[in-house]
This record gives sequence, C-alpha cells and structure tokens, in this order.
Amino acid sequence: MAHVIKTQEDYLAVYKQSIENPETFWAGVAEGFTWKKKWDKVVEWNFNEAEAKWFTGGKLNITENCIDRHLATKANQTALIWEPNKPTDEARKITYQQLHDEVCKVGNMLKAHGVKKGDRVCIYMPMVPEAAYAILGCARIGAVHSVVFAGFSAGSLSDRINDSGCKIVLTTDGAYRGDKTINLKAIVDEALQRSPGVVKVIVSAHLQSKPAMQQGRDFSWEEEMSKVPAQCEAEEMDAEDLLFILYTSGSTGKPKGMVHTTAGYMVYTNYTFKTAFQYREGQVYWCTADVGWVTGHSYILYGPLSAGATSVMFEGIPSWPDWGRFWQAIERHKVNIFYTAPTAIRSLQQAPLSFIEKYDLSSLQVLGSVGEPINEEAWNWYNEHIGRNNCPIIDTWWQTETGGFMISPIANVTKLKPAFASFPLPGVQPAIMNEAGEELTGNNVEGRLTIKFPWPAMARTIYGDHQRFKDTYFSTFPGKYFTGDGSKRDDEGYYRITGRVDDIIIVSGHNLGTAEIENAINEHSSVVESAVVGYPHDIKGQAVYAFVICYEMPKEADKLRAEIKEMVSKIIGPIAKPDKIQFVSGLPKTRSGKIMRRILRKVAEGETSNLGDTTTLLDPNIVEEIKAGAIK
Ligand code: WTA
Repeated sequence: MAHVIKTQEDYLAVYKQSIENPETFWAGVAEGFTWKKKWDKVVEWNFNEAEAKWFTGGKLNITENCIDRHLATKANQTALIWEPNKPTDEARKITYQQLHDEVCKVGNMLKAHGVKKGDRVCIYMPMVPEAAYAILGCARIGAVHSVVFAGFSAGSLSDRINDSGCKIVLTTDGAYRGDKTINLKAIVDEALQRSPGVVKVIVSAHLQSKPAMQQGRDFSWEEEMSKVPAQCEAEEMDAEDLLFILYTSGSTGKPKGMVHTTAGYMVYTNYTFKTAFQYREGQVYWCTADVGWVTGHSYILYGPLSAGATSVMFEGIPSWPDWGRFWQAIERHKVNIFYTAPTAIRSLQQAPLSFIEKYDLSSLQVLGSVGEPINEEAWNWYNEHIGRNNCPIIDTWWQTETGGFMISPIANVTKLKPAFASFPLPGVQPAIMNEAGEELTGNNVEGRLTIKFPWPAMARTIYGDHQRFKDTYFSTFPGKYFTGDGSKRDDEGYYRITGRVDDIIIVSGHNLGTAEIENAINEHSSVVESAVVGYPHDIKGQAVYAFVICYEMPKEADKLRAEIKEMVSKIIGPIAKPDKIQFVSGLPKTRSGKIMRRILRKVAEGETSNLGDTTTLLDPNIVEEIKAGAIK
C-alpha cells in the first residue's frame, strides 16, 4: 500500500503525494472503512466562506466502524480497560462485544426517551465506561453528542446546554477525584434551573449516593438500560451529518460550540492515530485525557476504537493515593503507548524517582504529549525516566478545531528534536505568516501558524454561528485557516509551536479565554473592571494573573481575593481560578480605550524595567502604580 510509512523517505513520498493529489490520497485512506454507500466527491471547499465538505454523498455510521466491523475477529478482545480512581478497586475490561451491547442499549434507551436523529444530547459524566457508552450510543442513532467536561460549574453547563438546545442530559450521581467526591447530580439540578429546555435527565449510579430525583424528569440509567434490548440498528448517516458539538474557549465572548461531522472526522482520527503512534495490532494504548475534551473524543474513543485497539480509560488523578499512580496502572495493564500532557509530566517530575522505580515500565514502546508546548526539560525527563531512552516521544500539535493531530512526529520514523512537534502529517499544509499577512516560505522563519488546505477532521462551523466561525478562523489571513498559535520552522524544516498569540491562555492544558474569566470576576459586586493575562508557571505551563479595579481599594484584600476566586470557580469552574489577583486603581488603556495587555503580561511575568512604548497610554502614571504593586 502506498500509504505505509516505515522510513523518513516513505514519509516524504507519502507527504508529497498527499499534497499533490489530496483527493487520491484521502480516497485511498477512506477505502479501508465500512460505508453503507460510497462517497461521490472526496472534498469540496471554499475557505473564503469558511466551508469544507468531505466524502460528500457517502453514507455510514461511525459506530459500525468503531465496533461492529471488529466483531468478526475481535468480539472477545478488550476494547476498553477502565482503571478506577481507587487502585484497590477492580479494573473493568470491556470487550468489543460488550461495548457493542452497551452502546446499542444506550441507543435504544435514548430512543425510548424520545431522542431522534439530529437531536442534541448533553453528556456530563466523569471518566466511567458509561461515558463511552453514552457518546457512542448517541452516534449509534444519529443524535449529536455535546459532552461537557465534568469539572465545569453549573453556570458553564447551563450555558452549553442552552447554546446547543439539548433536551436531555446524561450524567452520574457523582465522581471520584482522588480522595474527594463531586456531586454531579446536584450541579446538574442547579444548571437546569437556568435550562428549562431540558425535560429528561438519566443518572447512572456511580457513587451509589442516591441523589434526589425529580419525578417525571429524572430516571435511573441502570433501570432504563435494563428495559431495552442489546441490538440497535445503526442509523444511516450522511458523511456531513453532525457527529458532535464540543465547546472551546474563545478569545472574546462565550465559548464556541465546535461542530464536527461524521465521515471526515472518522477517517482522520483513525489515520492519524495509526500513523503518528505507528499503532500495531494488539497494543494496549492509554491516553490520560478526559473524555470531556477533544483529546478524549478523538484519541480515547473514536481513533483507537476505529482502529480496533485496546484503549485505557482512567478515572483518577496522577497524584493520588501517591505519585506512582500512573506508573502503577502502566504496569498493571502492560501499556504499550502512553499519551499524556506536559502539565502532568511537570508535576510528576517533582516527585522522587522512587515512585517510578517501584514499577515495571518495560511494556512502554511509544510516548505521547499534547495540549501545550512541552519544554525541553520536561521532554528530557519524560524520555529518560519514563521512556528509558527507548521510546519515541510523539509531541502532537492539534486543536479542538482540527479534530485530530496536525503536526507530529511519526513513531520510530521521524528523527526527534526535543520540544519540536516536527513535521506536518500527510495531508496537512501549514503556512507560517508574518503580521503583514505574507507567507514566510523557506526555513528559519517564525510567525503565525495557518493551514492553507482543508483536512478531513476540521471543524465545519461554530454551532449556530457560522459568521463567528468565519471571523475567528478565516478572516485574519483570508483564504487560510488561522490557528491562533505562533510557530517557528527551523533550519531543517522542523516546526516548533511557540504558544497562543491571541487572548487564550492554556492552564494545565485547559484553554481559557481571558474575556470569560474577566466577565466572571466582574460579577463580584465590589468589582468595577478587570483584565486577565497569563504568566509562565513551572507546573501548569501558564497561570492566571488578574488585575482588578474595585469601587474602593479593598481593606481586606485577601478576603476579597478569596471571594473573587470562589466567584470564578462557581461561574466557570475551578480550573479558571486566578492564581494572582492585584488590586489596581486603573488599567493601562490607550486613548481609544483598549487595554494594553502587552504591558500587563510583562508585569505578570515579573518584568518591570522594559515595558516598551507607553506614550500612547491615556494615563502613563498608572503603569508605575501597577509595577509597584506587582505580585511576585
Ligand atoms: C495548544 C488540544 C504546543 C495550542 C488538543 C493549541 C499545543 C491549543 C500542543 C489547542 C503541542 C496543543 N504543542 N501547543 N503539542 N497541543 N497545543 O483545543 O496552543 O484543547 O492551539 O486541543 O493547545 O487546545 P485544545
């Protein structure tokens, strides 16, 4: 097969073919799936209108490709290994046959509750197998899943439910997180006070905590599942029918419901999973992300399952009961491919090596990283202590919007450079642009990263707001998709992602919009206005620094800080809490009223001497005050 990549020469040849003849290339990849009807046209696109369609005319169901087609040979192979929060509780192994049955039952249960093809279903669940059944169960019947990360607050949940018009929520009574429990059902109840469109809630008993159930609205997952058969016809979906909506933070305004469709997403997540990790039959693969994020969607579920892999789902956290938790699970399940985030690596790096040495990590063959730029130190530590200098590190750069890996090394093929995502995968055509909007060709360049040709898993729109999609991604550099990231291309053509160039900050791998955090802070009755920026943090990558103007300078500053943090936690979720809050009497604004964030960023980074040109400021004196009060 033309697509097999074993050497760098193969990669170059396949890449060239994928660029010169994308239709032939992607048609070749798509051949390998189960189609109810083959596509008519591989790709149709117009980036000036922010449009792309893949495999048009094709009919399929993604769950047939993730489950049914494996049953002939793999019915008894483990599809999912569920590792619980508490290491002494028993892990669960779910075979492809069992996965089939559970997914069919969810499909039938949803139908019994009135869910039809095209309806949106909100899933607010922790990392339990039921979350996987819920997601795939929606796809089985053509319902659109909208998973909301179970760390989000009631307010965030409600906003997402309302924006996507969900009438039903699938949840659990609660979640374990280390030694804590989180009462998810109570959060759902609170959210639904502001989401009157929701008429049904189905609650799985994970904690067995017997939450209050509202008669007529709330149902027991276990009871409902016991009433329905384990056979459910897979709905015939058009290639471009919606598969899911997943929210991501925007640099302004409310979160964006990124829309992903069926065929392109399936083909791409499968291809990139197999290519980047060089997945081989029989390997055990573990991605530590949460199913509430795109990494969980694409690389715990759809990519690995469509490849027939065994995928681990872990409910817990790396630090509990101790810092050996990940390594213990790797030994326990003989994990071959391990995929995690730089923030986890940096926190694990702080713990004594004895937590690693206790466990046998010899099963590991490939390591992965995702979510933010990985610094060289963390890369080297991961390579030496986890990979024992014997596992390639696959630093995958991609986004919720891209659906799958875009720039990434290929395991055992690409010569690695620490902290470089390296080269575009086949089919991906990056272009680095300068601020004047010109493409910087050749090597040794740095600028803004764009993509100039469509790829199958790209988001198709923002749910309900195509204009915003166009404005956000296709207007900065007309005719190109703008990623919001900066990138270098070095003298050998390797890409190194340098980080966001917009008002998104990435805290422990979670994208947060500064505007969203400011809006939450401004809800506090003492606050007039605020400005939020990111600053470098040893473990989290970036942390949140808030400059806050109050009606009067607070007398009990620490008390107010605690209240503001609580406010943000309540409105968005604990992940968005500011790390540092500085009370100021004003913000550095230009005469046109625009906050000069560049200055605030420098202060937050601890730089006070060289703040650049401040002459356009309305009141340059404010900068002195801010510098003097900076929080170290
Ligand atoms: C950042 C997560 C450097 C980047 C899959 C991107 C990375 C944003 C990497 C998307 C990486 C992700 N190296 N930066 N390997 N992976 N990013 O939507 O800024 O949660 O734009 O998707 O994370 O985050 P998202």
